[in-house]
Amino acid sequence: MSRPRTTRLVAPAYAKVNLGLEVLGLRQDGYHELRTLFQTVDLKDDVIMTPRTSGLTLTCTDPTVPCDKRNLAWRAAHDLLRYTGLKRGVDLALVKRIPVGGGLGGGSSDAAAVLIGLDALFRLKLGTTGLYPLARRLGADVPYFLFGGTALGLARGDEIYPLRRQVEAQIVIVAPGQPVSTPAVFRRLDASLTPRENSSTIYRFVSSDLDGSAGYQILSNDLERAALEEAPELAGVVRRARALMRRAGAFFTSLSGSGSSFFGLFGEARSARLAVEMLRDAGVVAHRSRTLSLDRYRRTWERALKVAGVRPTWIQ
Ligand code: C5P
Repeated sequence: MSRPRTTRLVAPAYAKVNLGLEVLGLRQDGYHELRTLFQTVDLKDDVIMTPRTSGLTLTCTDPTVPCDKRNLAWRAAHDLLRYTGLKRGVDLALVKRIPVGGGLGGGSSDAAAVLIGLDALFRLKLGTTGLYPLARRLGADVPYFLFGGTALGLARGDEIYPLRRQVEAQIVIVAPGQPVSTPAVFRRLDASLTPRENSSTIYRFVSSDLDGSAGYQILSNDLERAALEEAPELAGVVRRARALMRRAGAFFTSLSGSGSSFFGLFGEARSARLAVEMLRDAGVVAHRSRTLSLDRYRRTWERALKVAGVRPTWIQ
């Protein structure tokens, strides 16, 4: 098939962790009412988008990732083209680095990158507001990636409030490489769930001084216990990783989302490096990274779009 003159966009799709996650109750729509604090980390997939006259293709460096409509990135492109009625197509190529099914939001981030990227490549001018309903329909974590940085997620976790104060920390991520089923973790939690709409931990945290490490001690992930019951072989890794990271100087440790990834926050690169070494000596694979602020998230997008010769339309 003949191709028009194309601009190839190599877009960044960053991973996230949940610094805190409160499950407040079950909603009428079957989802759970959440309060969560999202944080982008400097670990990314690349989503390469090459426009074509028609058709939609997807390839991926990870052979375990499906390359059809089961893939959220494929669905994002399909939904956007259908919604706008645009008679164009795109070749998508995913360079996967974010562990799959690990609570780091890789699939959701890839999908959001497709929405932002195609909006710019095809000059659709939908922007964050126009893309939001499409993102929301793809999955509860997708809207967050239209913003990035440190942000509060309410409702299903899809009502996003970027924070003015952004978390700055070194982060060590342990990805045991064992996917945990998010619906199964939520189902397990339901058995013991007591509605607690009045919980205010995350609100207290976001109104506290984010520069200090003491404030983090009130945060927790309500899914952690259910996730470790769902995947009991993870419990040992998490216990060991938590103890080693604390010993290396982590001021906060938590499971991300419904797992299986686990992380620690550190004030200094030296402590984070030490944690990675201690974990590796104990046979646990760990990645060192940094948190990524809202500003840096946007700047990396601006750079990617500039390289492709495309004007950013999503940044107001
Ligand atoms: O929206 P998404 O498909 O990413 O959600 C995956 C699953 O996580 C849902 O099917 C649901 O079981 C659970 N979930 C939930 N409440 C939320 C978000 C996700 O129950 N707020």
